[in-house]
Amino acid sequence: MSDSPIEAIKARLDAVELIGETVPLKKAGRTYKALCPFHAEKTPSFIVWPETGTWKCFGCGEGGDLFHFVMKRDRIDFREALELLAARAGVELPSRPGRSPEQDEEHARLYAVLQTAALYYHAMLLSPAGLAAREYLERRGLSPETIETALLGFAPHAPGAFERHLVEAGFTRQELTAAGLLGSGEHGTFDWFRGRVLFPIRDQQGRVVGFGGRAMSDEVQPKYLNSPQTPLFDKGALLYGLDRARAAIRSEGRAVVVEGYMDVLAVHQAGFLNVVATLGTSITERHLDQLKRLAPEIVLALDPDTAGLHATERAIEVARSAQPDDVVPEIAVEVGRRGLLRTLVRYRGTRKTRVRVALLPAGLDPDDLVRHDPGAWRSLVEQALPVVDFALARLGQRYDLSSAEGKRAAAEDALDLIADMVDAVERAHYLQRLARLLQVSERELAEKARRPVAPARGESGAAAPPTGDTLEEYTLALAAHLGPSALQQLDPGHFETTEGRALLSFLQRSSQGDTLDLAALEPYVEPWLESSLRRMAQYNAMWELVPEEALGERLADLRLRLEERALFREQRQIHELLAADGEADGGRWYTELAALARRIRQVQASRASLNRAGARA
Ligand code: UTP
Ligand code: MN
Repeated sequence: MSDSPIEAIKARLDAVELIGETVPLKKAGRTYKALCPFHAEKTPSFIVWPETGTWKCFGCGEGGDLFHFVMKRDRIDFREALELLAARAGVELPSRPGRSPEQDEEHARLYAVLQTAALYYHAMLLSPAGLAAREYLERRGLSPETIETALLGFAPHAPGAFERHLVEAGFTRQELTAAGLLGSGEHGTFDWFRGRVLFPIRDQQGRVVGFGGRAMSDEVQPKYLNSPQTPLFDKGALLYGLDRARAAIRSEGRAVVVEGYMDVLAVHQAGFLNVVATLGTSITERHLDQLKRLAPEIVLALDPDTAGLHATERAIEVARSAQPDDVVPEIAVEVGRRGLLRTLVRYRGTRKTRVRVALLPAGLDPDDLVRHDPGAWRSLVEQALPVVDFALARLGQRYDLSSAEGKRAAAEDALDLIADMVDAVERAHYLQRLARLLQVSERELAEKARRPVAPARGESGAAAPPTGDTLEEYTLALAAHLGPSALQQLDPGHFETTEGRALLSFLQRSSQGDTLDLAALEPYVEPWLESSLRRMAQYNAMWELVPEEALGERLADLRLRLEERALFREQRQIHELLAADGEADGGRWYTELAALARRIRQVQASRASLNRAGARA
C-alpha cells in the first residue's frame, strides 16, 4: 500500500483535538474519556488513545480511528472522510479513482468557468439590463438576501457579450461549450441562456455545476431551460439547494424534497432550510442515497395532480429498490446434500430511513403555500403520511380490491413495503390494516410476508498498526472470490487497518453480480490501494484449485482469526486502562475483561472445531 496518504494524515492530526470538538474529553491517565456521542449513556465509556489516534466506546462497541470517527459523526463514506481529513491536515490526495489527473485538471477549469459565469450573470441582474428580471423576482416574493445567497442571475439578449467577457477572463470558447454555456449550431456558437432568470445549481460542496433558466413570461417556452448534460452537470444525482440545506437536514434529522427551484428558495426564505428539489426529473437512487446519509427521515412533498402522484409512486419504488441501510442476518434451515438439516445464515437488507409523503393542497406549490402561511408548511410536513400509509391509501385506486387477482397484486405490493420495516410491532400494525383492507386473514398475509431478524452487531476495535496487513488482504481476497454474501459477512470492526476497512467497503460497494473480478476493479480503487488489490488478485488463481466447500471453511476460520485478533487487542487496551494512573473505574473494566475472556474462549473453541471438521473431511 504505497504512498498511502493515510499515515501522513494521521501523523498530522491530533485525535484529542479533533474528537474534542464533538465531545468534551476529560484526561484520565494516558487516555481521555467522554460520554459516548453515538449512544445515550450516563457514565463515560468512550475512550480516546492520543498516541495511536484511536477511540473506542466500551458501552456500544463502536470504535476505530479518526476516519471512522468522522464517518460516523457526519454519516459520510470513507472517501468523503478521507477528503475532509486530508484538507484539514493539509495533505494532498492522489486524484480520485476512475479519473486521470488530466480529467481533474479539466474539471477544475470547468468549475472556474461556471463560477465566473455565475458572477457575470449576477452582475447583469443587478445592472440596468436586469431591471425587468429584478422586478420579476420581486413579484415572486424573493428578498434581496435570497437573491444574493442563491446568487440568482440574468442572461440578457446580447449576442457575443457573455463570450467576450469570459474570454477576457481567460477562458476559451471550447471551455465555455464544454461547461454548457454556449451551444453550437450551423451558424457557430450561441449563448445557451438568453433572456432568462438564472438559478445557479451547485453540488454538495457548493460549486456551481450548471444553471436552471426561468422564462420571464408565459409565451416563452420552455418555462425552464436547464444546462445541457456536461461532465459536471448530472441531473440524476444533483439536488437543488443541498449545499445550503445540508446542515439543517442533518440537525433536524429530516430532508424534504420538493419539485421546483422557486419552491426551494421560497421555503428557505421562510426559514425552513431542510428543503431540496430535483432538477425537474424524478427521484433516483442516487438522490436518495445522499439524503439518507444526512438524515433518517425523507419527506416527499409533491403535487397532488396525477403527475405528482405518479412521481411519488416512482419515488417510493426507487426508495424500496435502493441499497438497504443495514444488512442483517437471517437464519434459515436447509436440507443438505446428505439429507441432513443444516442451518444457514443469509443476509438481508432492511431500512432505517423513513420515507413519508406530504400531499400539497390541489393547485398550490410549496412556494404559494409558504408565502401565504408558513405555519401551513410546517404542519404539512409534520403530518406527512408514512409511506406505507400512503401506499395503503392508494391501493384502492390502483387495484380492483373486489377481485382475487386485484387482492393478490395489491397484497404483494404492500407486503414488500411492510417487510422492509425493521420494527416488528410496526410490521404487525400494518399487517392488521392490510388484512382489514383486503378482507383476508392476517395469518394468510403473514405467511406471504418475509421477516427479518434483529440487526447485526455494530463495529468494534480500535488500534491501527502500519499498513499492508496480510491477514486482512488474504481474508478479503477469499471473500471476494466467494462472492458478495461472503463479503457482507465480514465485520469491519475486526479489521485493524484503515486500508483494510477501506478495501472492505470498496469491495462491498463494487460487488453486484455473483463473482468479483479483482483485476478488473483496479482502475476504480484508490491509487494507494492498488498494490493490495493486485496482491489479492494473485491469490485468486490459487483458489481455483481448491474445492468450493473447503474454501467456505477457510473463510470461516479467517473470520474467526480476525475476530480473535481484535479481541486480544481490546484486552490489551483494557489492561492499559487499568494500569494507567487515575483510572478509578476498576470494577467495570474487570467485568469487561471477563466478558472478553469468555468471547475469546468461544472463538478459539469454534476455530478448533472447524479445524477438526476440516481434518476429518
Ligand atoms: P413547475 O412547472 O412546477 O415550476 O416545475 P415551478 O418550479 O413551480 O416554477 P414556477 O413557480 O412556475 O416558476 C418544477 C420543476 O420542473 C423543472 C424545473 O426544475 C422546475 O423547477 N422544469 C419545469 C423544467 O426543467 N422545465 C420546464 O419547462 C418546466
Ligand atoms: Mn411554482
